[in-house]
Amino acid sequence: MTTVSTLPWATTNAAGHAIGLYAKWTPELDAKIEAALQRLRDASIQHGDGLVQSSSLGVEDMVVTDLIARTQLPIVIATLDTGRLHPETLGLLPRIAERYGRDVEVFAPVADAVIQFVRKEGEDAMYKSIELRKACCGLRKMEPLGRMLKGRSAWITGLRREQSGARSDVAFDEDDGNGRRKISPIADWTWAEVWAYVEKYAVPYNPLHDQFMPSIGCAPCTRAIAVGEDFRAGRWWWEDSTKECGLHAKS
Ligand code: ADX
Ligand code: SF4
Repeated sequence: MTTVSTLPWATTNAAGHAIGLYAKWTPELDAKIEAALQRLRDASIQHGDGLVQSSSLGVEDMVVTDLIARTQLPIVIATLDTGRLHPETLGLLPRIAERYGRDVEVFAPVADAVIQFVRKEGEDAMYKSIELRKACCGLRKMEPLGRMLKGRSAWITGLRREQSGARSDVAFDEDDGNGRRKISPIADWTWAEVWAYVEKYAVPYNPLHDQFMPSIGCAPCTRAIAVGEDFRAGRWWWEDSTKECGLHAKS
């Protein structure tokens, strides 16, 4: 059984530096890297142009992008720019171009729909009710995700089992409920392994991870977490919900 992580708020001197706080190479990691690469190769062969990496630009996705780019797999990398992302998150787009020579395809919400929603419900409607929060996620994430996945047979995510109870059974390759395969090549990696990989391969990452934000989404819906809090406690923190926006919700 996978244990949901709370973060090891280390007593090291490296406070505020995610690599120093979390990275730990494990005896299993070499084999896990090789297995993740094999999953990506297999998926690339099986799905060809029908495959896309859906990247939130969070650290897990940056690891997956690094795996793809280092082995020169012809997999498109795409992101959903909700219009409410932190500048630090968007700052990874030029860093990916510089580091890997790859452009990330950006899918944004329909401007008119967002304008009308904001006009009616306000800029920060997400705090008013779960329904309005989900409506915002619907407009800003789900609709563009539909366009990202249109005509594709599979997508790659950075989901890990350790991230939450709701994710404890994430498979390496599963039906996404909409007739596509969802491939999560690092589903079995621990947080310590993610950061050990980042350290070893000097993977670019969002500096907000150094500010106690292990899980980063839109700016108004993400906060830093405190000692002993769950990995995803900083996402939609005001809600008593399963903390899913619909991208991976199992209804
Ligand atoms: S979320 O559903 O709560 O937002 P989370 O941030 O944990 O998801 O990310 C899980 C996976 O969902 C990521 O590894 C990525 O594959 C996908 N994902 C999340 N947000 C985005 C985004 N803005 N653009 C593209 N993919 C995303
Ligand atoms: Fe809107 Fe927050 Fe969902 Fe982003 S995470 S789409 S800002 S409700």
